[in-house]
Amino acid sequence: EKGTYPHYMLKEIDEQPLVMRKIIQAYQNDAGELSIDEGVLNAVNAADRIYIVACGTSYHAGLVGKEFLEKTAKIPTEVHVASEFVYNTPLLSDKPLFIFISQSGETADSRAVLVRVKELGHPTLTLTNVAGSTLSREASHTLLLHAGPEIAVASTKAYTAQIAVLSILAEVAGKAKGFEMSFDLIQELGIVATAMEALTDDKEAFEQIARDFLSVTRNAFFIGRSMDYHVVQEAALKLKEISYIQAEGFAGGELKHGTIALIEDGTPVFAVTTQENVNLSIRGNVKEVAARGAHTCTISMKGMEEEGDSYVIPYVHELLSPLVSVVPTQLIAYYAALHRDCDVDKPRNLAKSVTVE
Ligand code: F6R
Repeated sequence: EKGTYPHYMLKEIDEQPLVMRKIIQAYQNDAGELSIDEGVLNAVNAADRIYIVACGTSYHAGLVGKEFLEKTAKIPTEVHVASEFVYNTPLLSDKPLFIFISQSGETADSRAVLVRVKELGHPTLTLTNVAGSTLSREASHTLLLHAGPEIAVASTKAYTAQIAVLSILAEVAGKAKGFEMSFDLIQELGIVATAMEALTDDKEAFEQIARDFLSVTRNAFFIGRSMDYHVVQEAALKLKEISYIQAEGFAGGELKHGTIALIEDGTPVFAVTTQENVNLSIRGNVKEVAARGAHTCTISMKGMEEEGDSYVIPYVHELLSPLVSVVPTQLIAYYAALHRDCDVDKPRNLAKSVTVE
């Protein structure tokens, strides 16, 4: 039930802090430590390489998950779009583990890969929001997202839940291998939940940004580097699917290799910057597009802000920043769609779960 909310999407965006807290609880043992089912842990730590397979928003969560698995658990990880993997299977390592990320657990493209790799005898793990879904039943292991039912076609809380569960999986796997952790993940995820709350409490700011930047435009760009590049790809998808504005998520440094030709007077360019080591370079990219007339909106993280930034999000651990930086982009997409009279919860041409290949 959406209760007093005008749309499921808005309700689900608002539920994200609660979902973070639910996930922390669900993956905690009696001693108060993060823990993962032993079968899953063994499968992860037996793998010499992990292949994440997913579609759409879940694929974008996988891009962030790869960072955790490589940086925290030190397992080489590849991320693949399911519909490509089926017909153009990469060279596999000796001991691969396949992780399927799927909110619904019913996506046909992902299932096609699952069926194929099972035939090859490889272990499989599904991260899904739906216990008993097809991908959960057919995989060797399942981890649940605990996000509660997601009704809006545009995925929001499932994306952040997927990222949070992947951070826990990587942390527990890394610890089991004896790696020292440089931060306390339970505490950091708590800080994330509080930061998300501050953002969902500040909706007017995002409604205004949507009004200023997206009321009339036909296209928009989102740029970022490193972790922020993953987030801007999701930001662009969200804007496209519900507002029908053509949008592209781009690596800040790659724009000058051709695409910058599309920047005209007034083209909206959103930049996300949460990573210390790329803050200066992405700001350089913002200047490049501004010099060509772009209408730039910079969303920065506390500690990295500069005068003139459009919005400053609260500080969270750099590795976890996608959980927080995505929230403004979800709300901006929501309000852009609303201002343009689009059917937010049921965008044209789309279904909640895509059960055809
Ligand atoms: C975008 C969206 C889709 C899904 C994709 C995969 O908002 O919802 O891109 O993420 O169809 O769906 P699942 O995660 O159910 O496999």
